[in-house]
Amino acid sequence: MNKVGAIGWPIEHSLSPAMHNAAFQALGMNDWFYDKIAIPPDIVKLSLRELRDHGYIGLNVTVPHKQAVMPFVKADAIAKAIGAVNTIDFRNNTGTNTDCSGFMDDLVANGIHISGEAVIVLGAGGAARAAVYGLSGVGAKVMIVNRTRQRAEDLIADLQVNASVMTYEEAAALPVALIVNATSVGLEPKIHESLWPEDLPLPKDAVIYDMVYRPARTRLMQMAEGQGSRVVGGLGMLVRQGAAAFKLWTGVEPPVEVMFSALYEKLSSGP
Ligand code: ATR
Repeated sequence: MNKVGAIGWPIEHSLSPAMHNAAFQALGMNDWFYDKIAIPPDIVKLSLRELRDHGYIGLNVTVPHKQAVMPFVKADAIAKAIGAVNTIDFRNNTGTNTDCSGFMDDLVANGIHISGEAVIVLGAGGAARAAVYGLSGVGAKVMIVNRTRQRAEDLIADLQVNASVMTYEEAAALPVALIVNATSVGLEPKIHESLWPEDLPLPKDAVIYDMVYRPARTRLMQMAEGQGSRVVGGLGMLVRQGAAAFKLWTGVEPPVEVMFSALYEKLSSGP
């Protein structure tokens, strides 16, 4: 049996097993299985060795272990830049981060072209790092708005990208192609929260991309739709970061539509 899985603490609510196991089934890969494994923070190092010794081929890594696993694997350039590993391949003990490619692939899949365009990223945590790294890499002019300004400054210095830190008002005054919510604000259960100030109109013509996928339509997306803006939720990014890990472990092209369906089913059936 080829075993892969997700480690986190907690991990019960992870949607990844449903998504990957549906993909294995659809492709007749009956010798593959995706597990979820609850690992408390203090035994991460030991657990990685145990799982590898027990024949796991690779892992997804989620909160709170994404930084903690870094010293125990060979982190690639993307993982190092983002400062977090979300996918491990035990066969060569490497760690990468597929959030960046997952996000960028989803922009392409949605026909959102941002090369040379101005983009606002809300947030300066790990998810924002993945977005800023990817967006800068394709030549977008990135503006970061974050509650803690210094964190945004640090992000730019660490990633060594040409981006700027702004306030909502400054950023909203410019012609913007895309606004990305890379924070968890708006996530269940606090579904009435939105980072964007209610009294500040969103820039006209900007697509609003919310990395939050629970609920499917966040408060920010509702505000944007009310203004006539196009909105995209975060489910596609979740699928495509998983698809990138699937491809890495199996070498097989992932059935993205099957993975989407598995997630829709899981999300509509409740927690
Ligand atoms: P992740 O790795 O998922 O991105 P994180 O590193 O905890 O998570 O980062 C969370 C981001 O959401 C940060 O940008 C945080 O702003 P600060 O840097 O000021 O802490 C932002 N964030 C979270 N809750 C927020 C809130 N209620 N209002 C504004 N920003 C918030």
